[in-house]
Amino acid sequence: MNLYNIKENDEQVSFQQAVKQGLGRNQGLFFPDTITPLANVDELLNQDLVTRSAAILHHLIGDELSAADVKDMVSKAFNFTAPIKAVQDDIYALELFHGPTLAFKDFGGRFMAQCLAKFGGDQPITILTATSGDTGAAVAHAFYGLENIKVVILYPKGKISPLQEKLFCTLGGNITTVSIEDDFDACQALVKASFDDEELKQAIGLNSANSINISRLLAQICYYFEAFSQLPADKRNDVVVSVPSGNFGNLTAGLLAQALGLPIKRFIAATNENDTVPRYLADGSWAPKKTVATLSNAMDVSQPNNWPRIEELFKVKGKSLSELGSGMLTDAETEVALKQLDDKGYLCEPHGAIAFDQLEKQLQPGETGLFLCTAHPAKFKESVEEILGKDIGLPKELADRADLDLLSKELPADFAQLRELLLNN
Ligand SMILES: Cc1ncc(COP(=O)(O)O)c(C=O)c1O
Repeated sequence: MNLYNIKENDEQVSFQQAVKQGLGRNQGLFFPDTITPLANVDELLNQDLVTRSAAILHHLIGDELSAADVKDMVSKAFNFTAPIKAVQDDIYALELFHGPTLAFKDFGGRFMAQCLAKFGGDQPITILTATSGDTGAAVAHAFYGLENIKVVILYPKGKISPLQEKLFCTLGGNITTVSIEDDFDACQALVKASFDDEELKQAIGLNSANSINISRLLAQICYYFEAFSQLPADKRNDVVVSVPSGNFGNLTAGLLAQALGLPIKRFIAATNENDTVPRYLADGSWAPKKTVATLSNAMDVSQPNNWPRIEELFKVKGKSLSELGSGMLTDAETEVALKQLDDKGYLCEPHGAIAFDQLEKQLQPGETGLFLCTAHPAKFKESVEEILGKDIGLPKELADRADLDLLSKELPADFAQLRELLLNN
């Protein structure tokens, strides 16, 4: 697979390079130079998640990895399900939260971890990341137990929820968690200082688990196919997919699935009040506003970092952005949507509820709707319980960890001490 830098087209890299590098020159995103449609979509839809996903990923990656290697990596990464649930006659929820950290990020994060482990060779590497909660959990679980990879996660002491902390600070093994006696910005500054230290970088093989990594996007393509494989055959023709969007990685992956031949009729990009994209699609002017805090906080993004990939895809396919549906919800509307879903007997959380609402409003007679449920409702327990006025309990993944001891180390926000820890880890 060859990829080019969207900003500096002369930078061309292999899949392996793109995975290891993350970003190109001038912070440019990597984009595949060809997207050849799959010849056998119907046949693929009859296969199980792992077999089908391995075939799709091998088709994309090409001979940089053998089919057997990709199958092995996918079977380790996608060791959980992504079921669809009928919410009403013509609308289905695609549940992407059955992985170890209860969010769609498990797909991309776990496949990226497999890629880095494969491409790292015998050289030990250290993944260093700062988290304000969710990313740390996804990274920790994705890399847990992988050979030759150490993971160090910094988080602000006392500033993440106790359950979030339990989810990733109780693993041990190759996962070191460090609570920093300061805020999230201080944690990020420590990560940056580490990457600026060439000697340290070389000594421990420093690497990041960046969220714009191409391996994540490729992995996310697979669950759109999985959703179709579960739809009744007579409902696969006019499918509209609504995607709760923040950085627009999920939507990029869906559009790539469509470009590979999955017969998705159209997409809806659903956002909260951070609605740069819906406004851009309506009036053609890119005018990000200051980001505001909302109930769907993982989508509180006003400058979505994957958007250039979407523009690029429409450009190379000769398609117009006017084909893309969109819409936004205020927090008050999100609450109404969450209650509506609950009345239908479907427990959701704010991100998924936004996608549902826009889908229900824009779906035409005869079409089948699919909306992405990106996180388990328990990940947003406080707000969901308050809005619905009921206790929603804890899923097993969280309940099991709640009683385990925290294994974190504590450090002040002091680079010299962190450096020492990294060198001796
Ligand atoms: C729960 C949840 N839903 C939706 C999104 C938005 O996904 P994307 O950034 O790919 O648009 C995120 C992003 O982190 C998320 O965590």
